[in-house]
Amino acid sequence: MHYSENNIILIVDDNPTNLAVLSEALIDAGLEIAVATSGENALKQSKYDPPDLILLDIQMPGINGFMTCEKLKDNPLTHDIPVIFMTALHDTADKVKGFNLGAVDYITKPFQQEEVLARVRLHLKIRNLTKKLEEQNIQLKQFTEELEDRVKERTAELSKSLNDLKEAQIQLVQSEKMSALGQLVAGIAHEINNPLTYLSGNVDHLEEYLHGLLEHLQIYQQYCKHPKIENHAVEIDLEFMVEDIPRIINSAKLGTKRIRDISNSLRTFSRADTTYKVLADIHEGIDSTLMILQHRLKGNDIRPEIKIIKEYGNLPLIKCYLGQLNQVFMNVIANAIDALDECSQGRSFEDIERVPNIIIIKTQVSLDNQSVIIKIKDNGKGISEKVKSQIFDYLFTTKSVGKGTGLGLSISRQIVVEKHGGFLSCESVLGEGTELAIAIPITEFVAS
Ligand SMILES: Nc1ncnc2c1ncn2[C@@H]1O[C@H](COP(=O)(O)OP(=O)(O)OP(=O)(O)O)[C@@H](O)[C@H]1O
Ligand SMILES: [Mg+2]
Repeated sequence: MHYSENNIILIVDDNPTNLAVLSEALIDAGLEIAVATSGENALKQSKYDPPDLILLDIQMPGINGFMTCEKLKDNPLTHDIPVIFMTALHDTADKVKGFNLGAVDYITKPFQQEEVLARVRLHLKIRNLTKKLEEQNIQLKQFTEELEDRVKERTAELSKSLNDLKEAQIQLVQSEKMSALGQLVAGIAHEINNPLTYLSGNVDHLEEYLHGLLEHLQIYQQYCKHPKIENHAVEIDLEFMVEDIPRIINSAKLGTKRIRDISNSLRTFSRADTTYKVLADIHEGIDSTLMILQHRLKGNDIRPEIKIIKEYGNLPLIKCYLGQLNQVFMNVIANAIDALDECSQGRSFEDIERVPNIIIIKTQVSLDNQSVIIKIKDNGKGISEKVKSQIFDYLFTTKSVGKGTGLGLSISRQIVVEKHGGFLSCESVLGEGTELAIAIPITEFVAS
């Protein structure tokens, strides 16, 4: 069997005869050797050129074999080199002491060549295997570290993708929700507009015709005094009719104007401005949103009408996606209505009339003139601190299934923060009410 050329056996003995015998035996067996004639030399050599195995005599002048072994085991550079003691045949105490000091084996004097070679080969084999194992261990460690790094990288990538996916999902839901609602509202506005046009056009004609007819009637009454005609005039209360007709025409005109306002609001609300920002009047947006939510603000069996108090400041036109901001106003106002509805349930109608449900909508330009601030405040049930920290989270809701999806505020935040570079914040006192503040920069913000 041939051992690697790198395997060097250090023989440490002060006795030249022993050195010669052992050296010859090992060299003959094809092994490489080094020699040292004292413990001190052995330590020095082992430090600068570590051998793979040490054959160590016990009795030596200077430091003896045991002390040499102890020092070898104390030094990290030589700690791992296997040591075989050379002892007298029957000296059991020395053998035990040698093992206790960390030796791996012993050989006895006088040397039995075959036995010495067998033990040396065995320990070299173990040494080489150990080295190999250590190398593999190091490689394994490196590999594990690399793998860990890659897992970390991959996890980071995955969680980024997951986040992107969530954002995309919110955007998708938002645009779907918006386009469905927008289309419906735009459709209704369109349907209202056609009959409205001929209604208002005809009211004007009707007014003109009736004016003529009434004049004509007066002439009749003056020149045609027939009892049959006069009786009929009394029967149908002509006098009152003549007085009332202008009032009816007026209210019909007011009615058509109101329908036109509603239709305009519907169109403002459903404005499709997703591709680029346009200068818009925030108040127009809020008003159109209130119009859409009118049916929810109205009184019902449980509570009287919710009071809307507008404290509108003097706002400049803002470059924005007004259709999307309307959606924010709608989400926030709808939440306020939900909160008011919820706390109305435990109260009597009269009690609510005394202390009414209120939504205050206040707008102003920020002190630094950099943004417009829209505050929407309700005196509903309020939000606990724990819930407050989660209200902008995707899919977070405290409402029952079918009532809330937990999308309103996360969509709103995305529209305000990401699409407009603004802020959305919430202040609330449990049992007293909630205020949502929306800040939109006045200077144009370029969305990434
Ligand atoms: N004005 C408010 N008063 C009390 N709680 C509120 C108010 N606004 C929001 N919240 C709380 O924040 C939660 C999240 O609101 P969000 O609008 O995101 O979802 P939602 O209203 O539950 O469902 P969705 O709006 O999707 O129908 C609500 O479930 C509610 O607990
Ligand atoms: Mg909501």
